[in-house]
Amino acid sequence: MNYQPKPATSFVTASKIERSEDELRALEREYCSFGDTVHYLETPPIFEHCEGSYIYDNRGTKYLDLQMWYSAVNFGYSNPRLNEAAKRQIDTLPQVASQYLHRTKIELAAHIAKDMEAKFGRKGRVHFNVGGSQAVEDSLKLVRNASHGKSLMFAFEGGYHGRTLGASAITSSYRYRRRYGHFGDRAQFIPFPYHFRGPKGMSKEEYGFHCVRQFERLFETEYHGVWDPKAGEAEYAAFYVETIQGTGGYVIPPMNFFVELKKVLDKHGILLVVDEIQMGVFRTGKMWSIEHFGVTPDVLVFGKAITNGLNPLSGIWAREELINPAVFPPGSTHSTFASNPIGTAVALEAVQMLDESDFGAEVMRKGAYFLAQLQDLQKRHKIMGDVDGLGLALRVEITGEDGFTPDKAMTDRIVDEAMLGDLDAGNGETCGLVLDIGGYYKNVITLAPALTIGMAEIDLAIRLLDQAFNRAKRK
Ligand SMILES: Cc1ncc(COP(=O)(O)O)c(C=O)c1O
Repeated sequence: MNYQPKPATSFVTASKIERSEDELRALEREYCSFGDTVHYLETPPIFEHCEGSYIYDNRGTKYLDLQMWYSAVNFGYSNPRLNEAAKRQIDTLPQVASQYLHRTKIELAAHIAKDMEAKFGRKGRVHFNVGGSQAVEDSLKLVRNASHGKSLMFAFEGGYHGRTLGASAITSSYRYRRRYGHFGDRAQFIPFPYHFRGPKGMSKEEYGFHCVRQFERLFETEYHGVWDPKAGEAEYAAFYVETIQGTGGYVIPPMNFFVELKKVLDKHGILLVVDEIQMGVFRTGKMWSIEHFGVTPDVLVFGKAITNGLNPLSGIWAREELINPAVFPPGSTHSTFASNPIGTAVALEAVQMLDESDFGAEVMRKGAYFLAQLQDLQKRHKIMGDVDGLGLALRVEITGEDGFTPDKAMTDRIVDEAMLGDLDAGNGETCGLVLDIGGYYKNVITLAPALTIGMAEIDLAIRLLDQAFNRAKRK
């Protein structure tokens, strides 16, 4: 380990005042809103340094990160090339109002749009904002506008699209809306083909078909409440999907699913909006996860890893008919920091870097290896009820010894043990593991390691997970 922490529990702030860890925690308790995040641990670590797949706290504890800031840091912490791009931009044009132009905004939009055209055969444009939720909001305006003001959307049970008001309305958890009332229409939530928890006796593909047939049933007669057969018009503007559910527990649908779903949507004039905020930017081995599934989105939303978690940048791509300036005019949305030059410079560097090698093949190779190791580990731990993955989006569903009953308490214990930072990493070193929990029953460890992770680090991750499982089972 090269990183040397400062003397234990002391911090030097910009004003050069040294504060102890206790003082910092007291300040947090008194002055930080607790509304803008959730502390899953009673005493979350205070981190000081990060590099590659590792993050280090103020006590010098090293953690192998298997969730990489909810998949925002796909190219490893402190990626030298992307950090350099940010530094270069700071030294040249760090700030510029969005009413003016800068090169990297234009080149980034062109790069994404040309790539979409090459892959999907549709011309389109790119529209920027700052965070994922804000881009989802922008997409809501776009599809409402394109459908002449229809405000109803379909979305999936288990789906997550963010916590602003519009994004919460199409996110399935009522918990995110409960205190705030409705500022717009809540989506109609449709079951996602979560095969592991689906009815017994159906293959994954059959279950995919079944879910689409159930959805299609809604359009059979006007009495199912969504379709006017006389006018040939649906009451709904769009269907919001995550190709692979993120917060929902990295649930991978059958490969036939979106093709079948899109047929129903096209038949009824409903747009397909694909939220790639978590699964995009090569998390699944392709730039966009929807590329695995053989359908063309009408609108695609991105964020997080496009800048490797450096300056925030998000956006939407939409096909020309929906987004050209004659139909979606200037000022339809605006945010001061949209297309900020540090964000666009880093994102442009990231997409250019991805073009220089067969990055996708590398991710698929590592993902297959990681998944095989997890399947091997599953033989020793019956509590690993389901393991699955696509690229380096991997899931471990924690259950009782029956391999099915969700066990949230065990999942929490595993994560607590992993975060203690004292697992045996070999060669006399100790290490923690940063894990994230998702899933409908909060019993899924969603693994999103750095796409730059090495094979030896995958082996280490498996050894550390094995120890965390053993410890949690003993408690
Ligand atoms: C699929 C998906 N959509 C939207 C969002 C919201 O993005 P942000 O947290 O940047 O607002 C997230 C965040 O986790 C996400 O995973």
